[in-house]
Amino acid sequence: MKLLTDKQKAAIDELLEKMTLEEKIGQMNQISPSIVGGFDVSFEELIEMMTDGRISKEEFGRLMAGAKQDFHDDVNRAGGLSSVLVSDPEVINSLQKIAVEQTRLGIPLIIGFDVIHGFRTVVPIALAEAGTFEPELFEKTGRIAAKESRASGIAWHFAPMLDISRDARWGRISEGPGEDPYLASVFAKARIRGLQNDDENPENYVAACLKHYVAYGACESGRDYNTTSMAKSMLHNTYLPPFKAAVEEGAATVMASFNDLNGVPCTVNNYTLRKILKEDYGFEGFVVSDANAIRECIIHGIAEDEQDAAVKAASAGMDMDMGTWIYSKELKSAVESGKLDITCIDEAVRRILGIKMRLGLFEKPYVTEEEMHRYDKLPEEHLAHALEVAEKSIVLLKNNDVLPLKKTAKISLTGALADMPEEVLGSWAISGRADDCVTILQGLKNAGADVSYHPCCGPEGEIDEAEVKAAVLDGDVIIAVVGEFASMSGEASSRADISLPGRQQELLKMLLDSKKPVIAVLMNGRPLALSWESEHVPAILECWHLGVQMGNAVANVLFGDVNPGGKLTCTFPAMTGQCPMYYNTPKTGRPASKSKFTSRYLDAPLEPVYPFGYGLSYTNFKYSDMDIQEEKDCLKVSVVLENTGDRDGSETVQLYMHDVSASIVRPVKEMKGFSKEYLKAGESRKVTITLSKDQMGFYDDDAIYHLEDGRFIIYIGGNSKECLKQEININF
Ligand code: NOJ
Repeated sequence: MKLLTDKQKAAIDELLEKMTLEEKIGQMNQISPSIVGGFDVSFEELIEMMTDGRISKEEFGRLMAGAKQDFHDDVNRAGGLSSVLVSDPEVINSLQKIAVEQTRLGIPLIIGFDVIHGFRTVVPIALAEAGTFEPELFEKTGRIAAKESRASGIAWHFAPMLDISRDARWGRISEGPGEDPYLASVFAKARIRGLQNDDENPENYVAACLKHYVAYGACESGRDYNTTSMAKSMLHNTYLPPFKAAVEEGAATVMASFNDLNGVPCTVNNYTLRKILKEDYGFEGFVVSDANAIRECIIHGIAEDEQDAAVKAASAGMDMDMGTWIYSKELKSAVESGKLDITCIDEAVRRILGIKMRLGLFEKPYVTEEEMHRYDKLPEEHLAHALEVAEKSIVLLKNNDVLPLKKTAKISLTGALADMPEEVLGSWAISGRADDCVTILQGLKNAGADVSYHPCCGPEGEIDEAEVKAAVLDGDVIIAVVGEFASMSGEASSRADISLPGRQQELLKMLLDSKKPVIAVLMNGRPLALSWESEHVPAILECWHLGVQMGNAVANVLFGDVNPGGKLTCTFPAMTGQCPMYYNTPKTGRPASKSKFTSRYLDAPLEPVYPFGYGLSYTNFKYSDMDIQEEKDCLKVSVVLENTGDRDGSETVQLYMHDVSASIVRPVKEMKGFSKEYLKAGESRKVTITLSKDQMGFYDDDAIYHLEDGRFIIYIGGNSKECLKQEININF
């Protein structure tokens, strides 16, 4: 996405001159179509009814199919709409036609949609993809998603989701790159490069929307939409860095989060929106609220009424209202009565028009018939990418000589999740289609496996004991696909118990009773508490929700055609009561140890089951000869990495740092760099990672960045727990 040219800037000035106040406010209005149903309850209530089980999903689908959507054509024609949340390209064209050909000024709409991990070609959830530690892949995922959605007329993605999430109870942990600010910042930059690439042809890029700004992942007790409270130092050191990185990379838009931060909802938060984002970071794009969030300020008890909410949001720098129509209803009188300065409106409109121009929407608002159907069938190149990311996202958690399987193995496959096509898509994959999905059963068949299938039990419901009996008789080796439905993570999907849901652990026990080797293949959207499983199941493969190519990727790893190299982007606690649990925790005065008066639980282990950055391989890697060379602006940290096994494989070499003594308490370890290495069997290589001295500081509670002289411990290794280390004294 190119920057605005002088000609475009002049065109924006000209438009602003011509616009009435109503037309300007129209540019700040984003809507979803309203549902006009043949049913007597509101759309919201209908959703409630489905969620609480009063009507089935099928019934909901039937009612919706019979319902009509109101796209508010009259408002559109009067210049009252700026953006609509839709995905059907025919509908998009007809809405654009009104905006471009029937309004006074002909300003095109910007169509936004939730394209979180792929549009038509759904790839692994971000929590999994980040575990590949390959920025080129994050970028390519963005490029492909941009091209595919743009062909449907969608020029704006509500992604990437950059919430640091340290609490596995929070369902939305699935949507983002995990718990580490450094990895999340690398992910953020790469994704922005992919989505907003500099291609000459606007058909190939979209505007990204960084969300949810900010600290939404720190919602108390991991309960979605809950309150958030933290010191400024924590905000700036941990939750803001991925947003800052993405803004530096040129991100076009930002979505404010639902939560309040230290008592002020992020929708109306002057400090985070105006001061940090627009002033300090110099963000030039526009900010949109999350759905209905401006109205929710009344429920938060921070606004008296709709006008008060509108004035507070617009004054804080909220440029566009998602879904409430409150700006349309209230901003005009607020300006006329002097409650809101017109400059707030002019600024918002200038930012929104700027992005519309940079997207080339004025030149090409429509999509052609050919474009609409371009991705009906997924292109080979996109499928190959989805397969590569899926294979590289898989994390081998445990392997007692069970994996890889021989091609001739007689496999008994169990677990209902192994053959449910939509479940491989994960949360937020609205434009993915079940027909494109390869289940694990299908993947094994595609690989020519000798496989018999007995579902036995899923994340919900009872165990079919007759099937279990048949399953244990049928194979030499048993694969149990266990985990979570896609709907158990994502928005509004927090869980108070993060162990395997339903009766799946019992299923594993019954299978293990057979004394045959059992492999647990996990499908889930969050870390699970796997204390028992890690002790008793001989092999565990973390496969997340891997997208359309899931089954092929899993089969390739099970048979060893691909050697797994994915690493965990989040800590796996032993039990839910340890949440939030994360590796980069601030140092206490009484670090957890075996003695009683330390920071620990009486009834839980001190350590997580699997730490951040962890992941095994079918080969082994040895780290030796750590060395640090200090240069003027950086440290060059090197290590010799050797593949000591008899298979080629990959390893993510991870660099961490600890500031031994500082003016505020610092984390026990912080990731500062990584390097993904591919080594042939027996090969060894010196790997060097540069740690810039600028990276060695921290923000204090006044948001001032400090670089403090003194002792640092530098760690290098294959996960956040097992590292080589050296101490160094630095004078900045
Ligand atoms: C609410 C979600 O929080 C946000 O992530 C999403 O982009 C919007 N709804 C629009 O669907």
